[in-house]
Amino acid sequence: MSRNEYLELMLKAKKVSESCVEMTEIVMPQDTNTLGTIFGGKVMQWMDIAAAICGFRHCRTAVVTASVDSLSFVTPIKIGDIVSIRASVNFTAKTSLEIGVRVDAEEPLTGKKKHASSAYLTFVSVDGNNRPIAAPPVLPESEIEKRRFQEGQKRREIRLQLRGKKS
Ligand SMILES: CC(C)(COP(=O)(O)OP(=O)(O)OC[C@H]1O[C@@H](n2cnc3c(N)ncnc32)[C@H](O)[C@@H]1OP(=O)(O)O)[C@@H](O)C(=O)NCCC(=O)NCCS
Repeated sequence: MSRNEYLELMLKAKKVSESCVEMTEIVMPQDTNTLGTIFGGKVMQWMDIAAAICGFRHCRTAVVTASVDSLSFVTPIKIGDIVSIRASVNFTAKTSLEIGVRVDAEEPLTGKKKHASSAYLTFVSVDGNNRPIAAPPVLPESEIEKRRFQEGQKRREIRLQLRGKKS
């Protein structure tokens, strides 16, 4: 990358706060299994949507989901629970970005909240022909954002190794 290309890219750099997303949902009967708890696939759909919105806000291009990893369901979410899905950019590479998503469930009558699910989604910024194009670099500011950036970089290296690519 030339110095001018680098400077041009840095001008487009975005803060984490410029793209973070918080979505709120309520668990309806059609979202649940016979135990009255939510389908894992429904949670995954909400996570993918929240992360996609975050990716759109960060890149201001079309973005596609390339991979999902470290998806965990920590505790069941019950029918009637209020669900918050939070997504923010952890790390950006050349055309891809890692978005961390956390899901919390809230009991509507008590307000008691519990961590329900988390995942890391990698999105790729694409042009009108669905070909990867440069994503704006993310600018981590707070200590938490800086830690997430460093951890995201390590996870990217592991992903590249698993796919047989060099970092
Ligand atoms: C994601 C996609 C655009 C990548 O295209 P590609 O031709 O493989 O591109 P490249 O090999 O040049 O990789 C481009 C970037 O994607 C990343 N990438 C590709 N496959 C990946 C995977 N499985 N997991 C994580 N990142 C991946 C690469 O690391 C690279 O990132 P970088 O530029 O930041 O270093 C392409 O595989 C695709 O269109 N997949 C289908 C996406 C889709 O339909 N998603 C569901 C609906 S949105």
